[in-house]
Amino acid sequence: MTSNADRLAFPASGKPEKLVSDQMIQARANDWDWFSLKNLTASYFGGEDVARVAREAFVRHIGDNVVHQTGLHPSVRKWETEVIDMALDLFHAPVGAAGTITTGGSESITLALKCARDKARVEKGIDKPEIVIPQAAYAVFNKLSHFLGIKVVQIDHSLDYRADVAAMEAAINENTIALVGSAPPFPLGVVDPIVEIAALAQRHDLWMHVDACIGGFMLPFAKELGEDVPDFDFSVPGVTSISADFHKYGYSYRGCSILCLSDESLVKWQGFSSDAWPAGAYYSKNLAGSRNAGPIASAWAVFNFLGREGFVEVTRGIINGRKAFIEGVEEIDGLQVLGTPQGPHFAFKADGLDVHAIADALMARGWGINIGSKPDSILLMLSHHHHQIAGDFVSDLDGIVSAAREGKLRAKGEDEVYGIY
Ligand SMILES: Cc1ncc(COP(=O)(O)O)c(C=O)c1O
Repeated sequence: MTSNADRLAFPASGKPEKLVSDQMIQARANDWDWFSLKNLTASYFGGEDVARVAREAFVRHIGDNVVHQTGLHPSVRKWETEVIDMALDLFHAPVGAAGTITTGGSESITLALKCARDKARVEKGIDKPEIVIPQAAYAVFNKLSHFLGIKVVQIDHSLDYRADVAAMEAAINENTIALVGSAPPFPLGVVDPIVEIAALAQRHDLWMHVDACIGGFMLPFAKELGEDVPDFDFSVPGVTSISADFHKYGYSYRGCSILCLSDESLVKWQGFSSDAWPAGAYYSKNLAGSRNAGPIASAWAVFNFLGREGFVEVTRGIINGRKAFIEGVEEIDGLQVLGTPQGPHFAFKADGLDVHAIADALMARGWGINIGSKPDSILLMLSHHHHQIAGDFVSDLDGIVSAAREGKLRAKGEDEVYGIY
């Protein structure tokens, strides 16, 4: 435990502005630039112009509170309403669908799970709710279910690394309230069989949530490019809700996401109202209270700056990159890509070799990567500019894998972590 003597004291007096700023710049000297070419983790770079448009919109609204959009900042209301409309349109939402802007994927998913839980409690009397999720679903489903008192039944993926729908069906019982599919999940770029999971949900009268936090603003454009992308949105019968993150492949600054509900009648399970305090009626559909308006403004600006055509072009870059990386990785003896990726990322394993040692060596050469488990794998999350360095990466990887095969590599022995280590 830290003793008070070790604790930093609250500054007694202020420092000159320049000193404060210099101190921070110096501390940041070894941080990565998020848009760095060698950063193959979740960084989502849409290009310098896109980043500039997003930043300017963000900064313009940096002091505005979303909660005050009705009284103080009517423009924020416009950005929010229009961004929701555009997202619902992109996801083929039926007339009467509803959207809520949130602070991120975690909040969108919390609200979806809360809706499913409260609806099932009232309409079916389920007080020990369970959800059935595929192995690769984001860990946030486990975390949020923990907060919401929902049991998570997690099903191993099938041999093609997609959700195993038959096993999901076998796991449904009288307490099941919802099924989940990802488009695509974080550990793999492989979209779950949403059509089949949604049909299953319909047969059992269950809530079906599609986690499109990664793919929501990438897969529709990949489809336009003629890529083989499975249907994942409201065009699929049985989909109740979709989470999609503007702050991923929608290229807004963090935190901005949307929860879409197939029908506005479902919003009643999401919202909260109270008149228990002496400051007027309180109503909120969000988990967060005060929120910076910057992220929503940046989402609106990017949507309008790029439009459908611009998104298609940025997505083309991602797909070209993914293809170049995968082709190179698959040529290296002993490496195998997991499943058939349709999203902006992919993972590969190296049977018989120490994946952690390979990962350490890649990072020692300045590559930012993620590590996956079940099976041990290396995960590359691509943006549109990464195709430029596919060759460099593959050449480094080739040398590293040869060294691993010759027993010349050792892992640092750290535990796996999420993110760059
Ligand atoms: C598939 C998926 N779902 C949900 C989330 C959670 O999103 P956030 O970090 O914005 O809360 C992530 C984050 O990377 C994700 O990859």
